[in-house]
Amino acid sequence: PTTGRLEAETAPAVCQGTIDSNHGGYSGAGFCNANNATGAYAEFTVNRTAAGTATIGIRFANGASTARPANLIVNGTILQTVSFPPTGAWTAWVTERVTVSLNAGGNTIRLDPTTPAGLPNVDYLEI
Ligand code: GCU
Repeated sequence: PTTGRLEAETAPAVCQGTIDSNHGGYSGAGFCNANNATGAYAEFTVNRTAAGTATIGIRFANGASTARPANLIVNGTILQTVSFPPTGAWTAWVTERVTVSLNAGGNTIRLDPTTPAGLPNVDYLEI
């Protein structure tokens, strides 16, 4: 199964925006700066050997003054909203954890922003 960090800048992850590296503290080669738009998503693909629940962490930075909520969409189904509150600076990265049910095989985990501000900057998904 997939374990560890899935970097947002590394395929098969999808970033509907740019891969940036101008705010330090990220892991890997950069982070996903998705467009400031509703629905401008970041998506990860997670492979599992067996179906079951897993706790995932999403590392992000939100230097804006308001939260950047997003639907957490697993295999096409909205499971919940993740809030992504302000972290104080674009260089202040924090990890928000949620528990999800995953299938055996490939799973898509999409963060789909619900406001025109779009997503926070997204560094990686860990599992
Ligand atoms: C700034 C910041 C970006 C961030 C953007 C945003 O431009 O430098 O990294 O993505 O704000 O509001 O989303």
